[in-house]
Amino acid sequence: MTQTAADAAELLVRQHRRIAGLLGEVRVGGERGESFAELVRLMAAHESVEESLVHSAVGRSGAENVDARLHEERQLLGVLAELYELGVDHPEFGRKFDRFADMVSMHLASEEVQELPILRESASTADARRIAAAIEMVETFIPSRGTADGERPAVAPPLPLFTRLCDAVDAGLGRA
Ligand SMILES: [Fe+2]
Ligand SMILES: [Fe+2]
Repeated sequence: MTQTAADAAELLVRQHRRIAGLLGEVRVGGERGESFAELVRLMAAHESVEESLVHSAVGRSGAENVDARLHEERQLLGVLAELYELGVDHPEFGRKFDRFADMVSMHLASEEVQELPILRESASTADARRIAAAIEMVETFIPSRGTADGERPAVAPPLPLFTRLCDAVDAGLGRA
């Protein structure tokens, strides 16, 4: 294990925890619009790095079922787009979001069991550096909460945002 690979895996785990926290916030209600806006941006950012870099890196290192994770991500982004179209105030939003949250939780757990240990143990330093740099770059698309001016993230359509971020990751870092 290299420190760089451990750091890259840790950055992904931290995003997983943040996604899980936002799923809970949207489920509970409260400031549902703001939480959903942040979730859309975070998921688009997180999955763009995984699709562009992480799955291929762990696949090269011997991970199995990489295609299944890619398939799940496409499904999740599709449902996220449907939720975005529905809007948080729609009467069907809560029920649909509950199913989505369960799907996301299973996806994150599968990655943590099947991919992240391989990333930690076997990823090349070059792959790990690329992943860490891409995470840092896409994080700039996710406004953090509690900024001095109180600005909160605006909700963005998930699929165009995801495509834009994949392009940014590919352009900024290049594929291996
Ligand atoms: Fe993923
Ligand atoms: Fe992930």
